[in-house]
Amino acid sequence: MRIVLGVTGGIAAYKAALLLRLMTESGHQVDVVPTPAALRFVGKATWEALSGRPVRTDTFEAVETVNHVRLGREAELVVVAPATADALARTAAGLAPDLLGNVLLTATCPVLVAPAMHTEMWQHPATVANVATLRSRGITVLDPDSGRLTGRDTGPGRFPEPERIWAEARRLAGLGDDAGTGAAAGPGTPADGPLAGRTVVVTAGGTREALDPVRYLGNRSSGKQGVALAEAALAAGAAVRFIGGSMSVEPPAGAEVTRVESTAELHAAVMDRAAGADALIMAAAVADFRPAEYAEAKIKKSEDGSSPVIRLERTPDILAETVRARAAGEPMPGVIVGFGAETGDAEASVLEYGAAKLARKGCEMLVVNQVGGGRGFGQDDNEVTMLFADGRDPVEVAGSKAEVARAVVGQLGALLGP
Ligand code: CTP
Repeated sequence: MRIVLGVTGGIAAYKAALLLRLMTESGHQVDVVPTPAALRFVGKATWEALSGRPVRTDTFEAVETVNHVRLGREAELVVVAPATADALARTAAGLAPDLLGNVLLTATCPVLVAPAMHTEMWQHPATVANVATLRSRGITVLDPDSGRLTGRDTGPGRFPEPERIWAEARRLAGLGDDAGTGAAAGPGTPADGPLAGRTVVVTAGGTREALDPVRYLGNRSSGKQGVALAEAALAAGAAVRFIGGSMSVEPPAGAEVTRVESTAELHAAVMDRAAGADALIMAAAVADFRPAEYAEAKIKKSEDGSSPVIRLERTPDILAETVRARAAGEPMPGVIVGFGAETGDAEASVLEYGAAKLARKGCEMLVVNQVGGGRGFGQDDNEVTMLFADGRDPVEVAGSKAEVARAVVGQLGALLGP
């Protein structure tokens, strides 16, 4: 899940670092957006190191990515912790002097706010009115705890424990009620499943290679098999990082989701998200060729009635690249699973082509899928054969995409070992 963690300028900002850990250890992608005042308490380096992502504060940074609207629009959950009295006032007034203000004005997902301040500020009529305004707009504002505050005073205003905030955030986002303190266990997943403590990256869907601003070369992948694989891995207790291209189905609930369009974007996302993971399942239907040139303006019909000729070039083989990177010592997964869509022909059978592909790609397992004649793409049922690089016997499975996914994840567990 994509989470934005807004941090505003109070001493409790240091406790938000613990909250961030709970989020990232459950496999979520977290963009931390501190206000300038928050950075006076905890610096950018801490947020970047703990989230593994660039951290921006100002609306005018990374303008080319339209960050000030993109972050809010793409977020699936926004948590503001700690929220100062000033931050509550600015949010209630709809002010956006910084990046966080913009995120809060563009987000349509659930928003959770955890205030922390001295008792007088919390009880001031202005703050009481601001909290009421935010709640009336559907924002969940936690009541702060009562207890020891920063100075000698005690009373309501204390920052809630990070575990309580995370539990509330999970409930809001529909992620189940696990407190999220388990090392790499996914949100709401069985902590004692065969893949508990493992992180699995799953790619799914098709790629689109732009020809011009309105046209692309794509394929018929629905993403159904990849989503089923991610769900099977989640059900087995894994934390799942899901990377989805163009799909006709929703990404899996409970996984950290990255969306991509082109092969180049998928390549970058896989290299980033697969680092440090235990397994990678490349179920995406990746373009093998893309237009060699991209036309900045829409290609027009020519006056003389001639048709344009489109020259193609090879795309990088992402699966083979991860195997190569691992051999070069990069922290790529120990188990890499590829998919091969084959039709077979007069020269060789589906399985012979599959065995050759397994050897060529250098991965641990290849799931060979017979396509054509109404099988495979877009269908609900699948028939596959799993081939293994270590010489174990091929395993065949036929059934719904969920059944196939469970079988693949079962073999993955066997390859990962205890
Ligand atoms: N794949 C990839 N990068 C590419 C193309 C494919 O990572 N540029 C991955 C797919 O996700 C899949 C596997 O490689 O897991 C097999 O893809 P496929 O296109 O069937 O195999 P190719 O090696 O391209 O063989 P073919 O000659 O049959 O097209």
